[in-house]
Amino acid sequence: DKVVLAYSGGLDTSVIVPWLRENYGCEVVCFTADVGQGIKELEGLEEKAKASGACQLVVKDLKEEFVKDYIFPCLRAGAIYERKYLLGTSMARPVIAKAMVDVAREVGADAVSHGCTGKGNDQVRFELTFFALNPELSVVAPWREWEIRGREDAIEYAKKHSIPVPVTKKSIYSRDRNLWHLSHEGDILEDPANEPKEDMYMISVNPEDAPDQPDPFRKVKIGIDAGLPVSVDGVKLSPASLLSKLNEIGKRHGIGRIDMVENRLVGMKSRGVYETPGGTILFTAVRELESLTLDRETMQVKDSLALKYAELVYAGRWFDPLRESMDAFMEEITKSTTGSVTLKLYKGSISVAGRESPYSLYRQDISSFESGQIYDQADAAGFIRLYGLPMRVRAMLDKGRYD
Ligand code: ARG
Ligand code: SIN
Repeated sequence: DKVVLAYSGGLDTSVIVPWLRENYGCEVVCFTADVGQGIKELEGLEEKAKASGACQLVVKDLKEEFVKDYIFPCLRAGAIYERKYLLGTSMARPVIAKAMVDVAREVGADAVSHGCTGKGNDQVRFELTFFALNPELSVVAPWREWEIRGREDAIEYAKKHSIPVPVTKKSIYSRDRNLWHLSHEGDILEDPANEPKEDMYMISVNPEDAPDQPDPFRKVKIGIDAGLPVSVDGVKLSPASLLSKLNEIGKRHGIGRIDMVENRLVGMKSRGVYETPGGTILFTAVRELESLTLDRETMQVKDSLALKYAELVYAGRWFDPLRESMDAFMEEITKSTTGSVTLKLYKGSISVAGRESPYSLYRQDISSFESGQIYDQADAAGFIRLYGLPMRVRAMLDKGRYD
């Protein structure tokens, strides 16, 4: 028997290795996905995994796949959960879980395991992906089974099993980082009345400390092709390098800090703070380009579907045919969302400095205050009379009643 464990090298997942061997009598294959959490976390990982008792560590670089096949579709869809959350963790779980299903097949494992708690969203996202891609796999979720309750218990368990306790100092926050975002939960954030401490933030400067003076990156031009970002300042970049580039730029200007209280799938509310510098720039760029390329009704329908799309992604239903069908709609409806948007970044805010599209529905010859040929102002009189007919009828009726 073999189990593939989603492994980070931290204390919790290190303790899961001996726990699985002891309680399930199986070999443990550790799996670490590189989704842009910072390469430091990957150094010396194999020795660490083996010291914990793993038979093998498999590492896969999923950065390009993550950005191209998970992040960009959500961006194109305009998926935002509960008005604010840009879904950084929600999008990463299915790409990691899918890779685990592949690894299980490659190493001949019949089970998979993760270190998510029984109180959160992440357990659902992992397990729904396992269900969708290989319903035969058994799933082991130690946090829902074992007696370990906290850090002290985990350290004691490690010592008892002669497993080295990872030296990495555990931060007081529960964090999740990838190429799109960094999330912070726990500690003082658990009281929504508390403002986050400035030293908590890691991938964005304080907007108040961002440059006062214009710099070369003060303006940034994003090229978009059919709803998907393709270039920055005229330079074509791969999805992951484009996002990294915008993260660098956004960071310096304090872009993309979000502080919110959200409704978790398991029913409870939780408070989280997110840093999404590049992502926030991209959402603004796509939205601005769509103001040129989508007509009123199309935009309304797209926006209403985006709400559902975000909810499905948040709830771990990435591989649900409903999301996939909605994605086909998003792809079709954004075919003409091509062009570029120039943005100005200043102390945490983003303003628009220009938008252009070969498919723009905006026509200066129609919209201009200077007179044009296509639009005849006299037509408006008949339009308004008919458009307002129901209002006139009601008013006539009311007048009759009160007379
Ligand atoms: N609340 C966010 C979400 O559900 C972030 C979760 C962070 N996960 C973590 N393991 N620290 O997507
Ligand atoms: C966890 O509980 O494992 C992290 C938080 C979440 O999944 O929402």
